[in-house]
Amino acid sequence: MKIAVLAGDGIGPEIIAQAVRVLEVLKADGLAIELEYGLIGGCAVDATGEPYPEETHRLASQADAVLLGAVGGPQYDALPRQQRPERGLLAIRKKLNLFANLRPAMLYPELANASSLKYDVVAGLDIMIVRELTGDIYFGEPRGIDVRDGQRVGFNTMLYSEAEIRRIAHVAFQAASKRQSRLCSVDKMNVLECTQLWRDVVTEVSKDYPQIALSHMLVDNAAMQLVRNPKQFDVIVTGNMFGDILSDEASMLTGSIGMLPSASLDENNKGLYEPIHGSAPDIADKDLANPLATILSVAMMLRYTFNQEDAAQRIENAVKQVLAQGIRTKDIAEPGMESVGTHAMGDAVLSSM
Ligand code: IPM
Ligand code: MG
Repeated sequence: MKIAVLAGDGIGPEIIAQAVRVLEVLKADGLAIELEYGLIGGCAVDATGEPYPEETHRLASQADAVLLGAVGGPQYDALPRQQRPERGLLAIRKKLNLFANLRPAMLYPELANASSLKYDVVAGLDIMIVRELTGDIYFGEPRGIDVRDGQRVGFNTMLYSEAEIRRIAHVAFQAASKRQSRLCSVDKMNVLECTQLWRDVVTEVSKDYPQIALSHMLVDNAAMQLVRNPKQFDVIVTGNMFGDILSDEASMLTGSIGMLPSASLDENNKGLYEPIHGSAPDIADKDLANPLATILSVAMMLRYTFNQEDAAQRIENAVKQVLAQGIRTKDIAEPGMESVGTHAMGDAVLSSM
């Protein structure tokens, strides 16, 4: 199991360090894990001038899976767009063809009071967002800022081919068939032609999955329903940009964005695994960051890329146990509760394992 580890910027190195400790435990217990380290994002720009250097691409291409921390920071805000740290993330997704982004939003009962929503609204929440990750307005051409009729205009292109829609729809239907067999496809077909095609193709693909109950929802309504009654959802499938926004929203239902892992898969289940939160430069190097999303990303890696369900559950159970013991980083602590740092949270997970 060759794993490329790309810690990135901000809190990336701290949270990755704890996830690596988890991998080392599994290795000591007999899994054939091999770790190799590379640069991505702002630290890569500092070292090489590029957010996704060729050398990192070689490393990531040769690995079976990539474990990524986070990229970005205010010191990079003035860089030209092509050099921004986020470009590194978009480049690795695109170049490795990681089109299927799985973002589970699951509420641990112990954290129900950390959610900003009422307990009854979120208790038992378990949603899977399937976000298309290599198309849409993120990558569509033409794009840019031009001058037209004497003033600047900015433009991007929302574009999906039916093949792109079809393959992410298949991933979503299959995910739904392993869960509660309900799939909600989110679009904006009342305004955007691109998403009319999305709805048409998802409906066509549904004929292959008669056992799945497919529904469609407009994105503005979906944003509202996610806070009104999130438990109506099982699997949500949507495009790159709507998925970006809805998955941040869904994360807060669970109490903290610091808890949510993700997997980004290609057609052969090679994957990149990362927490869905960002680099949080304001708390970097302070031993404050929650490493659980990254540790849970390792569990997803073992499940989806390496088919090691037992090891995946071992990690997830350790996390559950730590939460049940009342151990909290600051982001998930209730008022009046004591909290521990990043490293101590790693200690707790390791001793549970
Ligand atoms: C995410 C992030 C990225 C995205 C950024 C950092 C490019 O917000 O993974 O959700 O927009 O996809
Ligand atoms: Mg995002």
